[in-house]
Amino acid sequence: MHRDFWIDRWEENRLGWHQEDAHPLLVKFIGAHPLPKGSRIFVPLCGKTRDIGWLLSQGYRVVAAELSEIAIRQLFDELQTEPAVQKQGALTHFSATGLDVYVGDVFDLTKIQIGPVDLIHDRAAMVALPDDMRARYVSHLAEITDVARQFVISFNYDQELISGPPFSVPQPQIKALYDAFYRSTLLFERDIAGGLKGVAPASEQAWLVESR
Ligand SMILES: C[S@@+](CC[C@H](N)C(=O)[O-])C[C@H]1O[C@@H](n2cnc3c(N)ncnc32)[C@H](O)[C@@H]1O
Repeated sequence: MHRDFWIDRWEENRLGWHQEDAHPLLVKFIGAHPLPKGSRIFVPLCGKTRDIGWLLSQGYRVVAAELSEIAIRQLFDELQTEPAVQKQGALTHFSATGLDVYVGDVFDLTKIQIGPVDLIHDRAAMVALPDDMRARYVSHLAEITDVARQFVISFNYDQELISGPPFSVPQPQIKALYDAFYRSTLLFERDIAGGLKGVAPASEQAWLVESR
């Protein structure tokens, strides 16, 4: 899944992953593990997720990263907020009160740009990346966020039945990916009604990933 795949999806408005409401597992997680108001939550590979508006409405600040400028223009339109826009090297910084979004490749995002992060909310981000990019992604996020705590949502299904994204990342792979920097705890697991894409029986897992 490389840059052009995602850019094309946004240009063609083929957004099967996009949800109309905040993700129920995020809402459940924050309900059980509330952060102090004003905490800063990083949403990597954010698309135009409604999770951002929901987190802002809960009194949190959000920093996010996304390849597609179309996505981020639509995100700010939906938030009914006019962003300030500034080119920063390879990235473009869109900002408004409590919200910083970097448009470009997440691997170009630096520790200085991202600033302090209290929690990473990873929904359809790690699982959107093919196997050969995932370890680099996990170590990049660990480096730029000082190994911030993460809430990670993953899928488990038979990869032979459908190709990703989202990719199946079962428990042993989660452990192998994160355990160099973190310890991961399975918080919630639920079956996906009707299967993933209506084809593959699948479950969704939510992990709390904390520095060792
Ligand atoms: C499956 S979508 C998930 C979006 C969002 N997390 C959600 O739950 O709605 C993956 C997103 O990652 C973005 N993306 C893919 N590779 C990226 C990269 N290297 N840097 C930044 N964004 C990327 C895509 O443009 C796409 O919007």
